Amino acid sequence: MRYMTHHEIRKTWLNFFKSKGHMIEKSSSLIPMDDPTLLWINAGVAPLKKYFDGRETPKSRRITNIQKSIRTNDIDNVGRTARHHTFFEMMGNFSIGDYFKKEAIEFAFELLTSEAYFGIPLEKLYFTYYPTDLDAKNYWLNLGVDPSHLIPLETNFWEIGPGPSGPCTEVHFDRGEAFDKRGVELIYNEVENDRYIEIWNIVFSQYNANPSKPGSEYKELPSKNIDTGAGLERFACILQNAKTNFETDLHLPIIHKVAELSNRPYDGSMPYKVISDHIKALVVAISDGAILSNEGRGYVLRRLLRRAIKYGKTLGFNEPFLYKLVDTVIEMLDEVYPDIKEKRDIIISIIKKEELKFFETIEAGIKHLLSSVNHDTLSGEDAFKLYDTYGFPIELTLEYAEENNIKVDVEGYEALLEQQREQSRKARDVKLGMNSQDEALLNFKDESIFVGYDRLQVETKVIKVFDQGIVLKETPFYATMGGQVKDEGTINGLVVKNVIKLPHGQHLHVVETNSFSEGDEVLAIVDKRVRKLTEKNHTATHLLHKAIKETLGNHSNQQGSYNGPDKLTFDINHYESITKEQILNIERIVKEKIKENIKVDTKEMPIDEAKKLGATMLFGEKYGQFVRVVNIGNWSIELCGGTHLDNTKEIDNFVITSVESIGSGIYRFEGITGDVKNILPNVLKNQLESIERLNEKIRQYNGQILEMPALTYSYQDVLNLRDHQLKLSNMLKELEKTHEQTLIQSVLQKADSFIPEQIKPLTYIYVVDLPQNSLKPLIDVLYDKMKTETVVLFNETNEKVSYLVKSGINEAKQVILSINQALNGSGGGKDNFAQGGTQQVALFREWKKGN
Ligand code: ALA
Repeated sequence: MRYMTHHEIRKTWLNFFKSKGHMIEKSSSLIPMDDPTLLWINAGVAPLKKYFDGRETPKSRRITNIQKSIRTNDIDNVGRTARHHTFFEMMGNFSIGDYFKKEAIEFAFELLTSEAYFGIPLEKLYFTYYPTDLDAKNYWLNLGVDPSHLIPLETNFWEIGPGPSGPCTEVHFDRGEAFDKRGVELIYNEVENDRYIEIWNIVFSQYNANPSKPGSEYKELPSKNIDTGAGLERFACILQNAKTNFETDLHLPIIHKVAELSNRPYDGSMPYKVISDHIKALVVAISDGAILSNEGRGYVLRRLLRRAIKYGKTLGFNEPFLYKLVDTVIEMLDEVYPDIKEKRDIIISIIKKEELKFFETIEAGIKHLLSSVNHDTLSGEDAFKLYDTYGFPIELTLEYAEENNIKVDVEGYEALLEQQREQSRKARDVKLGMNSQDEALLNFKDESIFVGYDRLQVETKVIKVFDQGIVLKETPFYATMGGQVKDEGTINGLVVKNVIKLPHGQHLHVVETNSFSEGDEVLAIVDKRVRKLTEKNHTATHLLHKAIKETLGNHSNQQGSYNGPDKLTFDINHYESITKEQILNIERIVKEKIKENIKVDTKEMPIDEAKKLGATMLFGEKYGQFVRVVNIGNWSIELCGGTHLDNTKEIDNFVITSVESIGSGIYRFEGITGDVKNILPNVLKNQLESIERLNEKIRQYNGQILEMPALTYSYQDVLNLRDHQLKLSNMLKELEKTHEQTLIQSVLQKADSFIPEQIKPLTYIYVVDLPQNSLKPLIDVLYDKMKTETVVLFNETNEKVSYLVKSGINEAKQVILSINQALNGSGGGKDNFAQGGTQQVALFREWKKGN
């Protein structure tokens, strides 16, 4: 076994699998694309799910990668144990319906033990397997593994959320007695220990996990796959003979920087490790477009930053310091992730800002925490206040509490948090993680050509009939993909209800009634008008994308889009809120580009040529050798498979109709194109109607109408209407207040007429149908005028009777209680004033007679 740097380990891994016919895939972004089931990419297989479940066919059935990953389930162990991280890199090899168990095990054996590669002595390796999986056991035995090094484990079944899963075999490295005197029973009994380190997990991935169901109901994946994961950090630990993962070239540079900044030499203790792990996660995640916030990914990052600061304080840091580590992380990873450097300044500024914010409140927060403790316990309200006001993630509060022997009412905290969430909850689209698979669709490989870039009508043949629909030899129908929705139209006069892209790229047409047979001659016609509307939105989206980058900065990348005939939506990431001025500027640029009548040029070319042109590519998206480039006047150049207009003028017009944060640093732009004069009033319908309603009410008060600002067919209209609506509702509130005052005054003027001839110490006064809020001022006036001990005022309406008591001899509450009892009502108050009510109007009338 010889020393290897992390760069050498990476190369050894990738080159080995390349030599075994694997295609090397670059690491995807930490932010999952189109996968709402995951908060973070958490394993090498996560971005490859679409291949495992058959939604897409990979260019190669053998893939290898080194994937950036974040897992937070073990966060408390980070820094405590030798081998836990939030951010780590996972080396993997994958077979998508290609080789299976035997080859996977043989590859692992060769790569681990051969002197040409990692050269790890076989006697140091132990292998676990799923107890019934004797095949796996035998493959290892055949390679010469000693039977005593093979350990059956019931828990050897890998799944993490919905998606590929299955039994697995794990490779453990024995670091020797120095780390734990106990032997292999540590593995058998699955004891957390620093002696046997799991370095590689090989999953025989054959099920599609669905955590809402029992394991026995998981569906088999259409083909058997191999999914493996080997922790880069753990390999570094072993091959660099380090005490923990942190004493390797994947962490020491950061740790040394922390030591230098704090002026305290590294002593192997936890704070250095926590900081090193967390800053790596922060830098890489932010470079991938994540931000810090109070929910989802943003909350995880905020928590990591605050936890790192908490440990930083124990090293004597009393002001922001994490941002000073950013350059060290960049230096360390530059060769692997060169894009981080481009975002250096923004990463530093985000981290520094957040640090400042937390340092400002941390002292006050700790004081609050310690002073609120009551009998060794911190209440749910206080824990919530720490979270809400001082920015202490509950986990941080718990850590402090534990260190100081304080208990925390976590349930109480959670109830309050849930209440808050409930208030701000927005309905979210939840899509399925893995699509259900269909063997027949998956195996269908016949060629079908999309001709719809140039032709909207073709005479062609049905080449395949599935239960779900038909495939044509050639088709003008665009299938929903890349944000653009499917075309509408007919095949032999039958309405095409859906067009779906199959795993091998053909378009499946779902037809109104599927009465076709293979070989049928058909006429396929795409609805020109609808296609054109969609194209207006799609071409406008490209302009919008570029205008956003020009206005907000190059970091604003596409996160999702929708281009239909009705509208466009476009999601981007941005680190702060977007101002009105920025939105108007973005819209102005797009409008200008439309006016400039720029030709939209679409060409196929080799990917390298597209790169040279500076075409926008989505990070983490996989492109083939040949790509389609949509070039709008060399100003907006994007890789795109969608259909477009010939020039920008055809868009006619463009209006941004809303910009909204959809969480964790992602903003959604919505817009319309084409005949905006007709479309915009419809989009603004709710606002216009609400304005109409407000106007109607105002008119009833004073006959006035507040002139509405004329529409300008721009985002300015959205702002104007919002202002106008606010103005009207304020005006209405004022009018209502004045009106109410007038009513009360008119009641009070009649006060004398309510006073009975005979005034007793306890006088009952009966009135009918007076406005509710005139009753209190009325009883005050009556009481003053009557100069008696206690006055009770009853106001009767059709539905209910309300009663108020005012007393100078402190019997109000007592009187209310007896009336409540008599009238089956409820209410209460103080000794000098109380009020109540009942719905038993008939009972009241009876009772009144006797009083
Ligand atoms: N996906 C498997 C894991 O993460 C290999 O352990």
